[in-house]
Formats: sequence, C-alpha cells, structure tokens
Amino acid sequence: AACSYILILIFLFFVGDCASLEEWGSGHVEGSVGEFGQCVCNVFLPDTSFPADRVEHMQTTSNQLSVKVKLQIIKVYYVQLEVLLGNLSNLTTRVESLESGPDKYIKLEFELLRIELREFEALVTQLKASLNSSSPAFESLYIEIRNMSLIVDQLESYDRSNLEVIRIEFAKLQRKLEKCQDDKDDFSNAGIGSCKHGGILRMGKPVVSQLNADLSAGYKYGGWGKDSKPLPGSENMYWYSGSTDTLVSRITQYSDYYNLIMRQGFKTHQLYVQYNYDWRGTGNNYIVRENNLYYQFRSPFAMGKLNMTSVKVEYKVIPMASAQFSYHYSANQNLDFAADESGLWVIYATEESKGKLVLGKINEVSFEVEEVWQTSIYKQSVTNAFMICGVLYATRSVDTQTEEIFYTYDTNKNEESHVSIPFEKFQDFYMHLDYNPTDQRLYMFNNGYYVYYNVKFKVS
Ligand SMILES: *[C@@H]1O[C@H](CO)[C@@H](O)[C@H](O)[C@H]1NC(C)=O
Ligand SMILES: *[C@@H]1O[C@H](CO)[C@@H](O)[C@H](O)[C@H]1NC(C)=O
Ligand SMILES: *[C@@H]1O[C@H](CO)[C@@H](O)[C@H](O)[C@H]1NC(C)=O
Ligand SMILES: *[C@@H]1O[C@H](CO)[C@@H](O)[C@H](O)[C@H]1NC(C)=O
Ligand SMILES: *[C@@H]1O[C@H](CO)[C@@H](O)[C@H](O)[C@H]1NC(C)=O
Repeated sequence: AACSYILILIFLFFVGDCASLEEWGSGHVEGSVGEFGQCVCNVFLPDTSFPADRVEHMQTTSNQLSVKVKLQIIKVYYVQLEVLLGNLSNLTTRVESLESGPDKYIKLEFELLRIELREFEALVTQLKASLNSSSPAFESLYIEIRNMSLIVDQLESYDRSNLEVIRIEFAKLQRKLEKCQDDKDDFSNAGIGSCKHGGILRMGKPVVSQLNADLSAGYKYGGWGKDSKPLPGSENMYWYSGSTDTLVSRITQYSDYYNLIMRQGFKTHQLYVQYNYDWRGTGNNYIVRENNLYYQFRSPFAMGKLNMTSVKVEYKVIPMASAQFSYHYSANQNLDFAADESGLWVIYATEESKGKLVLGKINEVSFEVEEVWQTSIYKQSVTNAFMICGVLYATRSVDTQTEEIFYTYDTNKNEESHVSIPFEKFQDFYMHLDYNPTDQRLYMFNNGYYVYYNVKFKVS
C-alpha cells in the first residue's frame, strides 16, 4: 500500500492535471517523451492573453495541488509532470523487481521509498520558494507527504496482494505513456544528425514551456535554447538571454531543463561591466555553439563571439554587411546566427544586394565568413530565418496566430523555392527562432515565452 499510495498520488497528479488542463477548452495538451523516456505532458495555451479567469477554475478542479499562482502556472504543471512522471517510470521498474525479488530487497525498497519521500518534500519546498507562495495548498501537500512517510513505516510488514492494485494502476499509466510515445514517434522521422530527408513537411504545435526567467512579459526581446554542439557533459544544458529592449547584455546557463524551469542558472555572463568592458550585442538572433555565444556585436557592428569557457570576446566585421536591414518584427536584427547539421551560418543583407537576404557560412576556426549565397527575398519582409541541413528557411507573418515558412534556399543545390508551410503561433510577435540539430526542434522566444516546435520531415 505504501507503493500504491505514492503511485496513486502521482497518478492523480498526472490524470488530474492533464484532465483539468483539457477542461480549459481551447487549451491544448500534447504528450511527448522526455529525455529519460518519461512521458511529458506539454501545455499549449492558444490565447493571446493569459487566461487568469481559467486559472481560478483550475484551482478549484485540481484538488491534489491547487497552487495559487498566476503566470507561473505553466511552469508549475510542467515541472510537476516532467519530474513526477520521470519518477513514475522508475517506480514501474522497481515494483516489478519487488514482485519477483527475494525479501531482502523489499526492506531496501522501503528504505528507498523513505528517501524518495524526503526528496519529494524538498521538491515541494523548492517549488514553494520559487513561487514565493504561502498558499495553504503547499501546507496540505506537506501533511500528505508526512502521512505517506508514516504509512511507509507501518508497511514494513509487506503484503503481496497490494501489488495487484499497483499493477492495474500501472497498466492504465502504461497505456497513457504508449499514447505519448505514438505522438512523439509521429514527429521524429529522421535520425538525429541525419540529412536523409526532404526538408520540412510540417511543424508541430507550439509547445509553451513557460514565461522567461525574468518572470516578466516585458522581456519581449530575447532567446533561449540549447547548445547546437555541446561540449562533453553539457548535453543537457539550456541558455536564456532576455531584455526589455533590443540590447543583449547578459546570458544565463542552466545545467538542464529542470533548472531552466526552476530559474536556477549555474552561470550568468554579463556583457557590460562599467569602466571595464562593453561587449554588449543587439538584435537577439544569437546562438550557443561549443559553449560560445555567437551574436551581433554592437560597437563596432560585427559578428561577436563570447567564449563562455574562457570568458573572452572576439569580434569580426563582415565585409559588406549592412546594419540597415532588420527583420520585420524588430529593429537591429541585422546579423542572424544559425547552426545546423553542417555547421555555423550567419544571415544578413548588404547595401549592394539592396537589402536582399544574404547567407554566409562561417568557418568556425578562423571565425570568418568563407562562402556567401545571394537570395532573392528582401530581408525586411522576412520575420526570421533558420537553417536545417544546409537549407535556409525564411518565415513571414500571415496573421496574429499564423506564421508561414514561405521561402527556402538550398545551398547544396544552389536552388531557391517559394513554399507554404504554415504554423501556429502562441503569440503574435517573436524575436528569436532557431533550429537545434541536437534534438531537431525549433526554439522560439515568443513575446517573452519559451516556445518550441517539433518538426516533421518529408521522406526523401
Ligand atoms: C531513473 O532511474 C535511472 C537509473 O536509476 C536514473 O539514472 C534516472 O535519473 C532516473 N530518472 C528520474 C527522472 O528519476
Ligand atoms: C523525482 O526525480 C527527480 C529527478 O531525478 C528528483 O530530483 C526528485 O526528488 C524525485 N522526486 C520524488 C518524489 O521522488
Ligand atoms: C516574496 O514575497 C514577499 C511578500 O509578498 C516580498 O516582499 C518579496 O520581495 C518576494 N520575494 C521575491 C523573491 O519575489
Ligand atoms: C493520513 O492517513 C490516514 C490513514 O492512515 C488518513 O485517515 C488521513 O486522512 C490521512 N491524512 C491526510 C491529511 O491525508
Ligand atoms: C574557448 O575557450 C576554450 C578555453 O580556453 C578553448 O579550449 C576553446 O578552443 C575556445 N573555443 C573557441 C571556439 O574559441
């Protein structure tokens, strides 16, 4: 019963939360499989303003954890689902071994359950601190955890018949996890790093992770994502940079997704220290690669590279690059960095091209543009651009809810084409859109929110 209590609690978190989110009506819940094979329930809220009225509704329908928050609600649910479901799949394995294993393992298992409950308590404390909330919901959660600890103590005398209940709950959950798996499989139709596909067929729904780490919708200018070529041991790292204007003044690194969501960065690099240095950038079209931040250096107007390992900055002027032609949604977006399976790129425009978009391949050793392609589209009509497998994709706005990939340039064949691949937006404007070859996702900074998209490729 100790196991079943914990499992049922976790089960209720899952079913309760997803169900109540589904009750949000126009809200959308999308399942996927996380890094550890855990089922992740992603929350997509299509409304352009945060539906505070529905939060209230959710507070009353979700009795297990009616956390009293406003904007952070997305984060809370996301963290709980990801973490709890990760633990759940681990528990599945352990219950199976409980059933078959000799009695000495059972004693050990109870010991582990106790440890886990203490960890759970720490997690709740962390959430509580992170939300700065003194909600009674947390207090009842504490009571519940302590109660479960007591039950674990009483249950040292172990009863095999309880396992049947647990197995039924697991069977139910297994089906849910399998459904998640199906959803995920529908997208990943090309191996990571592989270019044996015919380019983008369609985009998934926008998956909203949470409001930015500054917890302010005023931080509209920024970006987030993962390193496109992580150093060994940094594969799970995320980064974020945000601002209320187009200046780029700092970047924060997080050891993994959980810490990103908890806003617990392990390092923040300041690009401006008065009287000391001014390495600031502008435009928010940067990327991180091998722990280097590649960004548009402000003064002089150049490509900037902050090596976050050595904390040194370099810049290199691109001959002919112009600071006159920004993207459609924001000023100062003159150099847009991108990384794909084939390397590092910079997208810009020149006076000579009269503002038409130019694509440059960067030699990562010399930090110079070594090859250039001229496109036929005006940079100012483009909202953003990214690269996949040596193909440039350019986007434009259709309406407040729809964006469209309207143009591609294939550097492998020196071929351009006009296409129409529409995709949903969470909110109208965005400052940052980049593909990451390590997980084949597109990362968008959408009016202050972390958003990503899964991509489905054409079979070639
Ligand atoms: C599940 O268990 C494995 C092996 O014990 C561990 O490496 C992993 O971190 C666990 N996952 C979670 C989410 O607890
Ligand atoms: C769940 O797993 C995470 C990550 O492995 C861990 O930090 C947390 O304490 C675990 N929570 C419970 C309730 O076991
Ligand atoms: C937490 O809340 C208290 C009281 O509402 C406030 O004074 C304090 O500044 C808040 N702390 C943070 C980190 O938001
Ligand atoms: C604690 O557990 C007992 C049964 O062991 C139950 O009657 C009681 O309602 C529980 N209290 C809370 C707060 O969950
Ligand atoms: C960044 O700095 C580290 C440590 O000095 C060095 O090993 C690495 O080659 C540098 N990377 C780049 C791209 O300059």
